[in-house]
Amino acid sequence: MTRHVPDFVKHKELQRWVSEIVDLTKPDQVVWCDGSQAEYDELCAQLVARGTLIALNPKKRPNSFLARSSVDDVARVEDRTFICTENAIDAGPTNNWEDPAQMRQTLNGLFDGAMRGRTLYVVPFSMGPLGSPMARIGVELTDSPYVVINMKLMTRMGRAVYDVLGEDGLFVPCVHSVGAPLQPGQSDVAWPCNETKYIVHFPETREIWSYGSGYGGNALLGKKCLALRIASSMGQAQANDDSPGWLAEHMLILGVKTPSGEKHHVAAAFPSACGKTNFAMLIPPAELASQGWEITTIGDDIAWIWPDEKGRLRAINPEAGYFGVAPGTSYESNYNCMKSLNQDVIFTNVALTDDGDVWWEGMTDQPPAHLIDWQGRDWTPELGAKGVKAAHPNARFTVSATRNPVLDEAWDDPQGVVIDAFVFGGRRSTTVPLVTHARDWEEGVYMAATMGSETTAAATGKQGVVRRDPFAMLPFCGYHMGDYFAHWLSLGQFLAKRGVQLPQIFCVNWFRTDAQGRFVWPGFSENARILKWMISRLQDQSGGETHFFGTSPSYTDIDWTGLSFDQSQFDQVSSIDVAAWREEFALHDELFQSLSDKMPTALLKIRETMQTRLDEMSEDV
Ligand code: OXD
Ligand code: MN
Repeated sequence: MTRHVPDFVKHKELQRWVSEIVDLTKPDQVVWCDGSQAEYDELCAQLVARGTLIALNPKKRPNSFLARSSVDDVARVEDRTFICTENAIDAGPTNNWEDPAQMRQTLNGLFDGAMRGRTLYVVPFSMGPLGSPMARIGVELTDSPYVVINMKLMTRMGRAVYDVLGEDGLFVPCVHSVGAPLQPGQSDVAWPCNETKYIVHFPETREIWSYGSGYGGNALLGKKCLALRIASSMGQAQANDDSPGWLAEHMLILGVKTPSGEKHHVAAAFPSACGKTNFAMLIPPAELASQGWEITTIGDDIAWIWPDEKGRLRAINPEAGYFGVAPGTSYESNYNCMKSLNQDVIFTNVALTDDGDVWWEGMTDQPPAHLIDWQGRDWTPELGAKGVKAAHPNARFTVSATRNPVLDEAWDDPQGVVIDAFVFGGRRSTTVPLVTHARDWEEGVYMAATMGSETTAAATGKQGVVRRDPFAMLPFCGYHMGDYFAHWLSLGQFLAKRGVQLPQIFCVNWFRTDAQGRFVWPGFSENARILKWMISRLQDQSGGETHFFGTSPSYTDIDWTGLSFDQSQFDQVSSIDVAAWREEFALHDELFQSLSDKMPTALLKIRETMQTRLDEMSEDV
């Protein structure tokens, strides 16, 4: 096997490390990726030849492909995801922990010869605009060419990264294998993977090892593994007396332009598959658009946030593409997203139409008369009526951000954008009102910390059960959740001491249902009305009624022009049920109890204050 290193790679430690992983995993060859279009096209052609990709009809969906995964490799595997810190307490009770030395032994066994018969690709990538003070570099060694092409769309990947790295720049080493070595003469399968899966993070040495899965967040290691789990731990570790450190968050970032031309930026956290991509690409309803409201996207999934020299919080989107959930996406629910998917897309686990295009549940009201489903089987609407899905509920598209028609002009700005508001939202059919403005930073942190959400198909496991998902970070926080809350609180204190105006914090819930289980709030575009109210709160704190949890709009505080949504519907999404809130608080207590070894007392105090306010409120009724 040739170990030739191309001239553009000058980094000695990188070369040594690649050589070490080659010795361990024993691939047939090594390819140093340059990130060029020619390389991408060549890999796609190879994947088509191998059966991993199906080329879609070039007239309908130019330069686009469909991949079908193995049936047991369709989502992130949270129970196989590990945070290996020296001391278990540093990973905290919400993460799976294993002793690093023990885990290294396990990984050494698994990776020994894991890439036999395959090619090891060296994939250099930058999370964040190249050269941004906030960008971090990773290098993924993978035996999956599907991963390489996805990384090309999702990150700034290729030669320029080596230039930034130079001879001794820092990078996060990421090793990935699908765990399916090939014996000589053995032919490959379309989607190689292994029943045994390990997604492992060593936050203290900043390494990622992933084994057995080729899917999404398990395999595209820049995303959840680096940009959230490792980065969240880096941001916290950098906090000291002189610096509050920084934040890596599961947040979209959007720009809102008001009719007077003022630009605001909002970062919003929602659990997976709760409409982050929709919110990030939202088109205001015609009436608001004609008033002059405009919304643009900076990011749809991850934000890195840090205080600038003036003490304002700035954010970048570390990613360069979207890995979005396809089902439910339509011209009606997300026009801009559909437009982004016209060409140059990799689809995974959606259905194939007879004319070589794609379809998924919710794309059109009427499904086509015949499809090939995500498992390659014939599908008809009759099967659909029996509940057989044509696309997997966690089917995805991968597309470069540059295809988004409402991409914000600052999306690639190395200095990021100044954040004016944070929004936190879960999927709750009851209890949590449509929108609430927190009284202050600490109460906002409390709201975010106690977020709950009904589970979705983005991760394996039971769906529809409420689980606490603090800051939508439960599966993505690389350290103890109690320390994470403390990090947010101390960042707020640091900025308050500098006398700067902190971003305002809001909590939303688009998902309240009626007695028949139907969503009451129309959501999607109409969420712009709620954004408009938030902006008015930023400007002059106007419009709203204050209650035990914070301030929520009354019916007349929302601009309803062009929408028929009456007071009683509004009450259904906004009412506060005292009994339900008592139960809710008991669940907050359960969460806090589970984190008791590191729970900040400030949040426990807020819990008491809120209870007192709720008691007063119930006496008033
Ligand atoms: C995602 C997720 O893929 O949150 O973004 O699961
Ligand atoms: Mn996500």
